Amino acid sequence: MAQPGSIVKVVVPVAGMGTRLLPATKSQPKEMLPVGRRPVVQYVVEELQAAGLRQILFVTGRKKTAIEDHFDPDPELVRTLSSGGGYDLLSELEYTETPARFFYTRQSVPRGLGDAVAHAQEFTGDEHFAVALGDSIIMSRDGSSFLHEMMAAHLANDAACTLAVEEVDPADVYRYGIVKPQGEVGSGDSLIIEDLVEKPRAGAAPSNLAIAARYIFSPAIYEAISRTAPDRNGELQLTDAIRLLLQLGERVQAVRLRANARRYDIGNFESYFKAFIDFALTDEKYGYMVRQYVKRKAREI
Ligand code: UTP
Repeated sequence: MAQPGSIVKVVVPVAGMGTRLLPATKSQPKEMLPVGRRPVVQYVVEELQAAGLRQILFVTGRKKTAIEDHFDPDPELVRTLSSGGGYDLLSELEYTETPARFFYTRQSVPRGLGDAVAHAQEFTGDEHFAVALGDSIIMSRDGSSFLHEMMAAHLANDAACTLAVEEVDPADVYRYGIVKPQGEVGSGDSLIIEDLVEKPRAGAAPSNLAIAARYIFSPAIYEAISRTAPDRNGELQLTDAIRLLLQLGERVQAVRLRANARRYDIGNFESYFKAFIDFALTDEKYGYMVRQYVKRKAREI
């Protein structure tokens, strides 16, 4: 049986327009918005590296070149800091010295997440691969790699698709893709999935387990995407392609986010603000100051 380490490629879709974050995203990628001291996509790349995913394909689009620039080593900036007494800031650029290799492809028109993933077909070939949404951070408190766990479950069960899922408030199910697990929701490592529903009404949802921005796929997903019809907005939805995998009799499973892990989706202002506050409060360098400030402020409001 293949080992988790045998999955080395990951696709990071970052081509969406981020309309829910306008005007902040009018001329810059939402994936570059800072959460605490780093842009969102830097946390994503750190997570991928921790999982041993060394070949990273960004599916980019218009106005997204800042992402490419961010991961490029910058010898001129390094020289300026070295000669101008900015030595202590050099460590902030260490993330650019990475064994990971970056690849870029362009989705010129954002036609949905399914279409974005389809752009990776030549890159991943006949290998299993991961997909990590560039606007969502997954942080585990003990530093363990949730993606690694997902890859192990994926390969052990020879699945066509392994989804990350997290429990959400039943009142919030209408915001998410919700899975229908087979039978009772057990405590096992992976749940077999029977169906998926995109943004169900509260009360009509088959569970409160929401798809959480990380996926592992076999190459079968490409066939499913190519056979998926666009939705009424003309977008190819990844969840529709996964439903097709189910109809084709493929194994679709889910791994639940552990209690010690959290997902931060910064796709709308409410969750973006919450993510920023959490990261600022726990920042190694500035957290103490922020906590004092917030305590003072809390007394005023
Ligand atoms: P979202 O659907 O949340 O992003 O996609 P969006 O379309 O940019 O958001 P709104 O609705 O306009 O505010 C989740 C991730 O998938 C990427 C996005 O860049 C984001 O990181 N994505 C989405 C693509 O790469 N291509 C697409 O066609 C759609």
